[in-house]
Amino acid sequence: MSDFHHGLRPESRIVHPPVEEVVGSRPLGVPIHQGHVFAFPDGAALAEAFGGPDQAFLYSRLGNPTVRSLERAVAGLEGGSGAIAASSGMGAINTVLLALLRSGDHVIAQESLYGGTFAALADLAARWGVEVTHVRGDDPEEVRAALRPTTRLLYLETVSNPTARVTDLPALIGVAREAGVLSVVDNTFTTPLLCRPIEHGADVVVHSATKYLGGHSDVLAGVAVFADAALHHRVWEHGVELGASLDPFAAWLTLRGMQTLGLRVRRHCESALDLAGRLAAHPAVTTVHHPGLPGHPDHELARRLLPEGQGGVFAVDLAGGREAASAFVGALRLASLAPSLGGVHTLVMHPASTSHRQLSDAELAAAGIGPGTVRLAVGIEHPEDLWADLEQALGKL
Ligand SMILES: Cc1ncc(COP(=O)(O)O)c(C=O)c1O
Repeated sequence: MSDFHHGLRPESRIVHPPVEEVVGSRPLGVPIHQGHVFAFPDGAALAEAFGGPDQAFLYSRLGNPTVRSLERAVAGLEGGSGAIAASSGMGAINTVLLALLRSGDHVIAQESLYGGTFAALADLAARWGVEVTHVRGDDPEEVRAALRPTTRLLYLETVSNPTARVTDLPALIGVAREAGVLSVVDNTFTTPLLCRPIEHGADVVVHSATKYLGGHSDVLAGVAVFADAALHHRVWEHGVELGASLDPFAAWLTLRGMQTLGLRVRRHCESALDLAGRLAAHPAVTTVHHPGLPGHPDHELARRLLPEGQGGVFAVDLAGGREAASAFVGALRLASLAPSLGGVHTLVMHPASTSHRQLSDAELAAAGIGPGTVRLAVGIEHPEDLWADLEQALGKL
């Protein structure tokens, strides 16, 4: 990437991802290199290509031009030295965990993690002898107290699901750094436009690019970004063995979606905050969990850590509990009941009747979720149409 491109704002750089030259000119859109193997003039050049993530392309599980464009684009936005794209967010997360942990190592992780990540850590604990301590993650002293001589990793999410608690990344990562422990941050909900964890000391940033980066609910992809080139190389070697590589077409779709990330994120943030404020004033709603609102427990932290916006995901508690929430999601016409987020469409989830239906009200409360909690992942539709939909559904309760 030229010095000129480096100097551009993130929104401009996304529209101009790195593209290889083709006979003296360059394609404006990133081409799809679907072929999985590359030919070499001699054995020495081929042998050299095995050497690392920045060598010549050899075989697409090790690296592919379209996939590398995505890796370089996300690494550039996050301020990392390199990245590894994977076939899903979980592919990226498992590549990082399996590369960095071995039997007997200890991990400190937030208790409110995305369910797939929580399950992956539980599996590492049950089957591979990795020890995991879960912390609330809102107090650096809690992390300090959990440290052991065998602690290798601190695993955090910038914003939690579904109640949008904000993690004090500089404070928590600071404790890990003092102890020589690596920090991994899932930055899916905030995107590098709202928060760049490497600037706060993180060693690895992971994304479900399936969500905001791709942005159109039409691709599964994941990316892990590394602050340090040596760590990138170490995880890349393991990723090559694991084989959760991203397909070039999926990389291309993700890159195409990312070109509008700046416009979309601004719209997601503005609409979510606007709707959160209106919902807070509605009699059918008891609590709105949006860190941009003064009543949220992390409002001050959000002003400091996420001054440009807090993303598009937040939750509301409905006065009528489980039945009201179930009726509410059933009455929506524009917003869809679907288990994802970060795309152009507004989606809702009612954890108590879907993803967490096996939990009692007491167990839900322990997970920070009420029976009447509904998660909203606000899309880019016109906010007045979204409000009309929410209002008519609330009116039926
Ligand atoms: C915060 C977060 N991280 C990781 C993932 C996993 O991503 P994927 O579904 O792309 O594997 C998700 C999926 O919902 C998520 O919300």
